[in-house]
Amino acid sequence: MALERLGEALRGIPPLQSSLLLLLCLLAAIHLGKLLLQHQQRRRFAARIICKKKSLKVLCMCTHFAFNDRYPKVQAKMQEEVDRIVGRDRLPCVEDQPHLPYIMAFLYESMRFSSFVPVTIPHATTTNTFIMGYLIPKDTVIFVNQWSVNHDPAKWSNPEDFDPTRFLDENGFINKDLTSSVMIFSLGKRRCIGEELSKVQLFLFTSILVHQCNFTANPNEDPKMDFTYGLTIKPKPFTLNVTLRDTMDLLDQAVQRLQAEKAASESQLSANA
Ligand code: HEM
Repeated sequence: MALERLGEALRGIPPLQSSLLLLLCLLAAIHLGKLLLQHQQRRRFAARIICKKKSLKVLCMCTHFAFNDRYPKVQAKMQEEVDRIVGRDRLPCVEDQPHLPYIMAFLYESMRFSSFVPVTIPHATTTNTFIMGYLIPKDTVIFVNQWSVNHDPAKWSNPEDFDPTRFLDENGFINKDLTSSVMIFSLGKRRCIGEELSKVQLFLFTSILVHQCNFTANPNEDPKMDFTYGLTIKPKPFTLNVTLRDTMDLLDQAVQRLQAEKAASESQLSANA
């Protein structure tokens, strides 16, 4: 019930290119690790996470699971930040984004670390081309290796560590030079046109989820995640526990507002017809 209501509330966020978002959501869970179920006293329900597009709204809850036994405080830090900036009386909104640097750092680190689109879609050279002295002959098929860019030790210190704070400067602000070095939307003229939209949506999903829920691993499952590798990197099915942090009031209000907006726009459309 609560999951359905949360899904309804998140439905207000415009649809994202679903398979890519799904992958990001799930691959962020690579860090789920050996979570301890310390907060189980609260009302609890289990959400079966299956890697299918139709489960996208539930799967998006995974976006903030980037904490494991080495970084058990990531979820708590995101919740501390969102509670401090947004408070508990309303849901996070787009305008909060500049004031929630840790959550943005989490998103960038999830994209960097998972590199769930490890190589871009293929392109081809239209002429003989030289890059750093190397000849790429005309009509050569080219894939950009994003995973390599995101794990280059010359650019990233300890690239195999999941550490959102690498994107924060000494004052706790987002380091934009570093975030722009994360490559998941490709580069050049044919880079993804949905980048900015995706980042806003991912911010909303993540901030609302950590504001409303606690997530813990299923202790009966091996915390090590398995993946299938191809043009994208996909995790295999896994389960997790989701606990509401407060009441359903804010989610109910969001659903009611969305329903009212939908009804108003439908009646406007029929009035114009
Ligand atoms: C997390 C979400 C997303 C990721 C990681 C992503 C990633 C990518 C990548 C790697 C490419 C290939 C670029 C290349 O040719 O080298 C691409 C292309 C593209 N993406 Fe996305 N994308 C995402 C979301 C979206 C969204 C929400 C939209 C639409 C609103 C979108 C629209 C497109 C389009 C139209 C192209 C083809 C661009 C072209 O060929 O000129 N993407 N995306």
